[in-house]
Amino acid sequence: MDTMTEQKQRVLSFVQSSGTPTLGNYLGAFRNWRGMAAENDCIFGVADLHALTVRNTPADLRRRSVELYAWLLALGLDPEKNVIFMQSHVPAHAQLAWVLNCYTAFGEASRMTQFKDKSKQHADNVNVGLFTYPILMAADILLYQADKVPVGDDQKQHLELARDIAVRFNGLYGDVFKVPEPYIGKKGSRITSLTDPEKKMSKSDPNERSFVLLTDDNDRIAKKIKSAVTDSEALVRYDPANKPGVANLMTIYSCCTGKDFDAIEQEFAGHGYGDFKAAVAEAAIAEIEPLRAEYQRIVSDKATLEQCAKNGAEKAAALAFKTLRKVMKKVGFWQV
Ligand code: TRP
Repeated sequence: MDTMTEQKQRVLSFVQSSGTPTLGNYLGAFRNWRGMAAENDCIFGVADLHALTVRNTPADLRRRSVELYAWLLALGLDPEKNVIFMQSHVPAHAQLAWVLNCYTAFGEASRMTQFKDKSKQHADNVNVGLFTYPILMAADILLYQADKVPVGDDQKQHLELARDIAVRFNGLYGDVFKVPEPYIGKKGSRITSLTDPEKKMSKSDPNERSFVLLTDDNDRIAKKIKSAVTDSEALVRYDPANKPGVANLMTIYSCCTGKDFDAIEQEFAGHGYGDFKAAVAEAAIAEIEPLRAEYQRIVSDKATLEQCAKNGAEKAAALAFKTLRKVMKKVGFWQV
């Protein structure tokens, strides 16, 4: 049993507390997290420090953080077996981030495309935190000596930077950090907008019909899916380049039912998009409805939630502190 535990890989991922998760977050990330939790040693965090890079109402940020934490539990991640915690509860993240800032070149951080995009989107608040965001993310990862980091396409460049920083630091001071590998899920790593299927599904899209929230009731889910943009061919065929809307709905259907694309094409041969969308809606509802019920149960029990978050932070802090101490020693801080 012990040797088994030793061989387990450490998987780590975080989600930023920017609102209710969408069907895209669920199928693209959380479901894979749950799948990995059985075979790996998993650490999942809510990145509330990162959320501060845009303006928030404090009460709002707090509520969203609690809700997202509750969602992680509702999605079936087990706080006893995994470490599930809030980033701001473990001071080592900010501490290591400072050190890593001093081992990251200005030019290298300037190349991050997300920084360039976000500074255009929030031109009125291009703060330094937005710029050093990927270095804080590197600290999140390197503190825990993670083997694998599941991330979406938009975070690959940040993970690459974390690897570069780790290699550089290890080159100077010996093996301090494990160099993490990216983990890209097979299917559903990218669920797109229902109204503009070339774009990622995002709850910050002003068009509410473009995304399904996990809190949407069944009617709303069905309406949104039934109004999804498709094409005029009336043929259910997987062709993401030419039929991105249909491909997206097929991906959702495939994730929710476990059927592969060939089987789905056969199932809907000779049917129009009406039947197909009705089936997708039904499958999505079957997946979301039980989660929503579980979420309601969990979020209404604040005492248990707080206890869980405290335990998670304690476990995380113990792991993080080991790495942080090593780093402090290596760079030459006086340790007393
Ligand atoms: N930046 C990531 C995102 O927006 C969230 C994140 C923060 C993260 N720290 C991380 C993801 C560490 C993986 C590992 O999705």
